[in-house]
Order: sequence, then C-alpha cells, then structure tokens
Amino acid sequence: MALALVAALSSGGCRVRSSGEGAAGGPATLGLPREGLTVVELADFAAGKAQFQRQFAVADGLGPHFNAASCLDCHGTPTSGGHGDLQHAARIVGVDGDVIGMPAKAIPGFAPLQPRPGQPVSTHKPPPLYGLGLVEAVPDAWLADHCGRDPALGIGGKTNVHPRVGRVGRFGFKAHAVTLADFIGNALTLEMGVTNPVEPDPRRWRDDDAVADPEVSTPTVAQMVSYVRGLRPPGRERHDRDGEALFRSVGCATCHRPETAPGVEAFSDFCLHDLGRGFDNGLTDLNAGPSQWRTAPLWGLRFRDRYFHDNRGPSLDAAIRMHDGEAAKVRERYTQLPSPQQAQLVAFLRTL
Ligand code: HEC
Ligand code: HEC
Repeated sequence: MALALVAALSSGGCRVRSSGEGAAGGPATLGLPREGLTVVELADFAAGKAQFQRQFAVADGLGPHFNAASCLDCHGTPTSGGHGDLQHAARIVGVDGDVIGMPAKAIPGFAPLQPRPGQPVSTHKPPPLYGLGLVEAVPDAWLADHCGRDPALGIGGKTNVHPRVGRVGRFGFKAHAVTLADFIGNALTLEMGVTNPVEPDPRRWRDDDAVADPEVSTPTVAQMVSYVRGLRPPGRERHDRDGEALFRSVGCATCHRPETAPGVEAFSDFCLHDLGRGFDNGLTDLNAGPSQWRTAPLWGLRFRDRYFHDNRGPSLDAAIRMHDGEAAKVRERYTQLPSPQQAQLVAFLRTL
C-alpha cells in the first residue's frame, strides 16, 4: 500500500486508487473523494473542502443578504457534501418572469428581504451533492436521448435546454444549471451574499456591503467546484435484484433511470416531468413549467428521511403516493400491488 502510494505520487498526473470502494459504499465512504482522481485533483478536493466548510464572517463578504454562512451549514448531513433541513431551505421567488433566491437573513444595517404580497414563493431544501461530478460529465446528447418517455403510461420527459448557452441543464430542482461552476458561483451570491466572478449573472458581481468585490476569487470558487465534482457517489447498501426488478416492472425506472448513463447509477434521467397540480409552485424556470420538476436522483436515498424538493413526503410510501401528473399511472400500479410487494419496493429503495 505504502509503495503503491509512493509510486502514484511520484508519477504526477497518474490516477490514485484508493482501496475499499465497492458497490456497497456505506457511510464509511460517504463524503470521500471518488476513485480515480489525479494527485492534483485530490489536492484541489482537499483545498475545496476547507473552502466549502469555511464559515464566512461579515468581514469576509457575507451578506448583505444571506441564508447561511457556509456551504456546510446547508450541505452537511450526514457528512460534508450531504443534504440539509428545511431550516436551511432556500426561498425561491418569481420576479418579472425571472426566478431568484430571496435570502431570509441580513447583516447588521440591512433590512431582511420580504416577498411582495401575491409574489409566488417556493421552498427548496438543500439536496445532497454526492456523485454530482459524474452527472456533470454526462454528454448533453445522452441526456436528451434518454429522457424518460412512455406514451402508454403518459410519460414524456423533456430536457431543460439553457437558451443562452444552448446546453442541457441538469443541476437544481428544475435542472436550470448546466455546470457545477455555474451553480456554485450562484450559490455563493444567493445563499451567502459572497460576490465572485464565477456567478453567471453580471448583475450580481457587486453588492452593497462594505467589503470590496469580488469577495472571493475565481481560483477559490474553482476549488469549491473541485470538491463537489470529486465527491464519491453514495453507492448502495447492497444489490437487491428482486426489488430492482419490481421497481422496473412497476415503471418507476422510466423516470428514475437506474443507470443514468454508463457508470452513473443515479436513478434519474435528469429530465423534467410534470407531476401535476399539487406540484405547481407558480414559477417558470427557463423551459421548466410551474409543475415540472427534475426527476429526483434516488442514489443515497437510505441517508434521507424526508422527500421531494420541499420535504413534503414524510415516508417513502407516502412519497410514492404523492406522485401525480405524468407519474399517475405508475403510482396507481404501485397502489394496486399487494401490500407485501409494496413493502418489497420500499425496502429496495432503502438499499439505495
Ligand atoms: C442556505 C442553504 C444553502 C447554502 C448556504 C448553499 N446551498 Fe447549495 N443548495 C441549496 C438548495 C436549497 C439547493 C436546491 C436549489 C434549487 O434547485 O432550487 C442547492 C443546490 C445545490 C447544488 C445543486 C444540486 C443538484 O442536485 O442539482 C449544488 C452543486 C450546490 N447546492 C452547492 C453548494 C455550494 C458549493 C455551496 C457553498 C458555496 C452551497 N451549495 C451553499 C441550499 C444551500
Ligand atoms: C413521470 C416520472 C416519474 C415516475 C414514473 C416516478 N417518479 Fe419518483 N419522482 C419524480 C420527480 C420529478 C420527483 C421529484 C419531485 C420533487 O422534487 O418535488 C420524484 C421524486 C421521488 C422520490 C423522492 C426522492 C427525494 O430525494 O426526495 C421518491 C422516493 C420517488 N420519486 C420514488 C419513485 C418510485 C418508487 C416510483 C415508482 C412507483 C416513482 N418515483 C415514479 C418523477 C417520477
């Protein structure tokens, strides 16, 4: 082992093999870098982890409006890079046909922002970030060709193509962001009030607090991106072949594609599906309509106990029963299963 490590380090750009990553990645491997990163990538991962966990103070550029002082505050369960709770939800509002985050807190001397009466507001929990580097690497054409579609079931997914860059979005609950850098540059300004040159919208390159803009540099944001990009996917607790066969035969796999792309077992097509009126948040995000949402990736489900973008699902069984719209026929197939088979399907989900 020691020899192998020395050999890896001395050959510079070569790929480092860490031991112990199996199909059954348990909590012990959660939050670690994924296999096959180069020595340089591992160094950036470590530096980015420190930035991800850094608590920003007002003197570092936090605010004037913000939701939390670090990425970790929102993405820390059960490890760094994980999900967050509703106390750390983002408040998403519609403004003149645009969708923006409206942070709830303000630094001293600034008034907290309040939505106008009647303005559509949507509550979004922080999702887990494990494995997203693999998702970023899936080619646009692959996602477009593999959107869940099944006319007999009434399922017709679509990609959220970004009109300005002409690429397929995949990050965010409405798949509005194409790259991790775009998303993270934007998370820094919207969630933390930390200005940076990676933020895609030039209107947010400056803010009104006393710290000179940009408050963090491009290389610092790039380190954060390297950290998220390097996070290992959550793996499975075990392979439950019968449960997976049931999951497929019921039709869940049409949208929750077990193999998103070769080697990416995210259980999502990363496309938009209309989940019906109960999911209408009144907001249109690029090409995503108010009741259209990105298929939730189910990898790492065993580490979560609340479901959907706003945590409305209190249990897996309840979450399945809340599916409507394009998923209505598949939901009915589930509710018509004998209860032992429903339990078998839920038990399968808990292995993910
Ligand atoms: C106040 C809580 C909060 C903070 C702080 C925060 N995030 Fe998030 N994060 C969220 C929420 C909420 C979403 C989902 C947003 C949406 O799609 O509406 C999200 C989504 C993401 C996504 C996309 C995940 C996916 O599945 O598509 C990435 C990547 C991400 N955050 C990274 C970061 C990084 C890096 C930081 C620190 C710079 C950060 N976040 C800070 C709440 C937060
Ligand atoms: C038409 C596409 C579609 C079908 C079919 C479908 N789902 Fe979903 N599912 C979604 C979308 C979209 C979301 C995310 C909605 C949101 O975040 O509000 C979701 C969310 C979930 C969640 C919550 C995950 C989380 O992280 O919060 C679970 C669990 C789930 N689905 C399980 C299933 C199961 C099991 C089946 C089969 C019985 C199924 N789904 C069928 C589209 C679908």
